[in-house]
Amino acid sequence: MKFFIDTANLTEIKEAYDLGVLDGVTTNPSLMAKEGIRGDENVRNHYKAICDIVDDKVSAEVIATDFEGIVKEGKELAKIDDKIVVKVPMIKDGIKAIKYFSSEGIRTNCTLVFSAGQAILAAKAGASYLSPFIGRLDDIAFDGLDLIGQIVHIYQNYGFETEVLAASIRHTMHLIKCAELGADVVTCPLKVITGLLNHPLTDKGLAQFLADHAKANS
Ligand code: E4P
Repeated sequence: MKFFIDTANLTEIKEAYDLGVLDGVTTNPSLMAKEGIRGDENVRNHYKAICDIVDDKVSAEVIATDFEGIVKEGKELAKIDDKIVVKVPMIKDGIKAIKYFSSEGIRTNCTLVFSAGQAILAAKAGASYLSPFIGRLDDIAFDGLDLIGQIVHIYQNYGFETEVLAASIRHTMHLIKCAELGADVVTCPLKVITGLLNHPLTDKGLAQFLADHAKANS
C-alpha cells in the first residue's frame, strides 16, 4: 500500500517525507488556495517546490473543464516535472482527456469519483489513478468504504491497471479499512499518517523500559 499526503503545505510534506514512508502527494485547488497560492506562475513554482521534496508522483489538478482546456493545462502541468500526475475531474470531457493523456504517456488521477460506474469509465479511459472520496460520501450518509471495496473487486475482475487511490480520508480507521479492502494508495492529511503511531500501551511500555534501565544503571 502506498501513502500519499493530501496537502499543498511544504512543511507537512517535508515532515511526512522525512518519516520515510511517503510515496507521493495529492493537491487540489482548495488545498492550493489554503496555502495562499494564486496566479499561474506561483502555482507552477509551488508544484515544482513540492516535486523537489518528494521522490515521485505529485498530483496537480486542472481547472479547465472542457476537453481542449484540460489537455492544454494538463500538458503545461506535466512539463513542470516528471513527477507530476495530471488530476482530472470525473466529467465527460475529463474522461476524453484522460484517454488522450493515456495515449501520450502522461499519468492521470481521475478525481471526484463517487460511484462504481464512474470508476469503470475512468479505468476504461486508462486513468493511472482513481480517487474515490470516502469522507464526502460518509458526510451524506453513504458508506465511502463500501465504494472502495466495490471498486477494488471490479478492478480485480477485469485486471484493470488503474490504481485505487482512496481519497477524502478523515481518520486512521478509514486508512486501516482501506488497507483491509485492498486500496492501492491512500491519500490523507499528515495527522492521519502520524496517528498510526499512537498506542497507550506503547507509551506505557517504553516508559517502563526506560525506568527499569535507569534503575539498573544508577
Ligand atoms: C484528494 O485527492 C482529494 O482532493 C481530497 O482527498 C479531498 O479531501 P476532502 O474531502 O477532505 O476535501
